Amino acid sequence: MLALSFRHLPHHEGELGEVAVFLHLSLRKYAIHSTMKEIKKTSWRSPSNIALIKYWGKHGNQLPKNPSISFTLDKCFSETSLSVSEKTSKDKGLELKFYFDKKENLAFRIKILSFFEGISKDFPFLHKYALQVNSTNSFPHSSGIASSASAMSALALCLCDMDAALRGKKIAKDKLLEKASYYARIGSGSASRSVFPVASLWGEAKHVKGSSDEYAIPFEKEMHKTFKTYQNAILIASSAEKKVSSRVGHQLMKTNPFAKVRYKQANDNLAELLPALKSGDLTKFGEIVETEAMTLHALMMCSQPNFILMTPSTLAMIARIKAFRESSKLPLYFTLDAGPNIHLLYPENIKNKVVPFIQEELSEHCEHGRIIWDKVGKGPSVIK
Ligand code: PMV
Repeated sequence: MLALSFRHLPHHEGELGEVAVFLHLSLRKYAIHSTMKEIKKTSWRSPSNIALIKYWGKHGNQLPKNPSISFTLDKCFSETSLSVSEKTSKDKGLELKFYFDKKENLAFRIKILSFFEGISKDFPFLHKYALQVNSTNSFPHSSGIASSASAMSALALCLCDMDAALRGKKIAKDKLLEKASYYARIGSGSASRSVFPVASLWGEAKHVKGSSDEYAIPFEKEMHKTFKTYQNAILIASSAEKKVSSRVGHQLMKTNPFAKVRYKQANDNLAELLPALKSGDLTKFGEIVETEAMTLHALMMCSQPNFILMTPSTLAMIARIKAFRESSKLPLYFTLDAGPNIHLLYPENIKNKVVPFIQEELSEHCEHGRIIWDKVGKGPSVIK
């Protein structure tokens, strides 16, 4: 209908005419695209994760400078679908529409196009079909929670699943997850760890059989049962956009004078953390996890240029957490992402003591009292 009315615009010469022709063609293309028959669709839900040993510094094609390990989250996830239909033109370029929260999003589309271009040799279907990606997050976009891990892992799962389906191949779940972890890593390093339940390790680590810089491996089986139901209250100190993207942060490690020491420390911390995760040593676990968080922020403070990513609210909450731990003797510890929000980690069996503490003493330091009550989760799932 709209295409018809533009066709009958009187000005076919000059600027208005060109705009009319452009709109006419774009709308026609849109009309064709939106009515085109979908050939196949796949949809996945995939969670975010919180690193215990941090990945900060990379080389080559998204390879980590040190191994990292994370808890997989439960309530913070992305839901993404990928559908393929016939192309609207014989053009060999990628044809992609990207919708975030049901609205076309051109900024995300550009990022995804470059990701797809980079891996298209391994996924020939990307050039063969018109692609549509729809994505949403369970957590608000402006909550200061990084969405790249959940978003890129959900997309990588869709890609690997779609590829197998189009080739008529069945792929075992563990192979699918390993492959998805590999491609998620190329999209965003930490996303490689989001595809496994409970916990995941990424990066070659001494004494960890099967560990690799190219993909993450599951770590659930090795963990003490107390960690399998661990709680993570995310205390939103600020929802403002991050001051430094992780892309810039990783880059700054190239000239950070403490980089070499840091990479050694990460390996040493991992070597100490693994036995604590296995035995359920909560004190050791907490000490290492807090050191990792503080080190990440210290690295940003001594980069050139330098950044302070904590806010006064972050510091006030850390002081209260330490004081409460001291007086209550309860094992609650914090970690931080590359931002001001606190991830408070504690075992499920002390939830009834920690929740009132959070509500009475920490929530006043959270922006609009915002807290996400998350915990360790079961990993990704197909959306039927
Ligand atoms: O995956 P990236 O490139 O967004 O980097 C993530 C970096 C940290 O979140 C700070 C640490 C980590 O290991 O997740």
